[in-house]
Amino acid sequence: MSDFFDHGQSSGKALLDVLNGNTPWRRPIWLMRQAGRYLPEYRELRAAAGSFLDLCYSPDMASEVTLQPLRRFDLDAAILFADILLLPQALGCDLTFKENEGPKLSPVRCMDDVSRLCVEGAVGKLQPIYDTVAKVSAQLPGHVGFIGFCGAPWTVATYMIEGGTSSDRMNARLAAYAGDVWFDDLIELLVQTSIDYLCAQIDAGVEAVQIFDTWAIDLPDHLRSKYCFEPIDRIARGVKRHSQKVPVIGFARGIGAAHLQLVQQCRIDAVGIEWSVPLAWAANELQAENVVQGNLDPLCLVAGGDALEHAVRQITETLRYERHIMNLGHGIRPDTPPDNVARLVNIVRQADGARL
Ligand code: CP3
Repeated sequence: MSDFFDHGQSSGKALLDVLNGNTPWRRPIWLMRQAGRYLPEYRELRAAAGSFLDLCYSPDMASEVTLQPLRRFDLDAAILFADILLLPQALGCDLTFKENEGPKLSPVRCMDDVSRLCVEGAVGKLQPIYDTVAKVSAQLPGHVGFIGFCGAPWTVATYMIEGGTSSDRMNARLAAYAGDVWFDDLIELLVQTSIDYLCAQIDAGVEAVQIFDTWAIDLPDHLRSKYCFEPIDRIARGVKRHSQKVPVIGFARGIGAAHLQLVQQCRIDAVGIEWSVPLAWAANELQAENVVQGNLDPLCLVAGGDALEHAVRQITETLRYERHIMNLGHGIRPDTPPDNVARLVNIVRQADGARL
């Protein structure tokens, strides 16, 4: 954990102020997958692009999609529009996104498969992504922070090993239990390339980064420490070596009380939590020394109405303002009514008003 009391000047960006241990001018809010299919203007550009990957690799369209949610809602951050699976693609894995089937990759399951990955030049192939960053950066309002991201090595490895989404990530978990040399090599290669990928995003203009470990829930304690936390820590340190001032947010989904271990083992500046984490525990155990991000249930944002009002108030009343970034506990769902997102932002702003 970085030194929390590194009080510098307020930046005017609520997101960065919270991440740097400064009091923000309001409680920052952004939403995982805030650009996406729930927005009609996204669906329109996505159709014009032809495919999700074409959209990701078009700096003009991807920058527009990144900015779309900010045109509608009074959010405090933009997140780069891209995907965690672009890195394995740059490493040489075939990647396709089939409609309603999720991603498909050519599987990596032995030393030969790992040896075939082309680390040399991989991060350079993602130049269109850095061009997107630069375009967004030039257009962002002054109070809005800009977040880049990568997948955590464990989560990216699960997709590479399984060849896409799978219900139980069985082959990846078996490789972790076996401690196969090819598996260790794969994680190592992902650590190194993820650092370079994030540093290139930072050089192009992102101001904070988030590491997504969606499938951290899969591993027991000792393996989670080795294959989730250690790689996240190494990436965070690599980022800090490159740019000391860029904060890192760790999001390891589904790990409950092990969030405490995550913040102890990793040099991250904030921890994203899912909605099953009890708020009082998060306030007492995590916020004592860390910034917490989350943790509204994305389904509650679909439900709207009183359920939304109640859940958001519980969060704003329990989690201290100076150390909280309002967000969901996982990505926004495609069936979310955009009006509910506007309502969510309003409720958070009202809570700010009540505080003053
Ligand atoms: O948050 C954002 O708005 C930034 C963009 C972003 C996307 N994916 C766009 C996307 C980010 C940060 C991601 C991360 C990501 N991608 C993760 C980690 C976070 C998580 O959600 O758990 C994972 C596991 C992936 C891999 C991935 N990408 C899957 C499994 C899928 C298919 C499932 C789905 O939602 O369709 C994607 C596709 C994807 N990534 C879409 C978007 C907007 C939908 C593509 C479409 O328009 O059809």
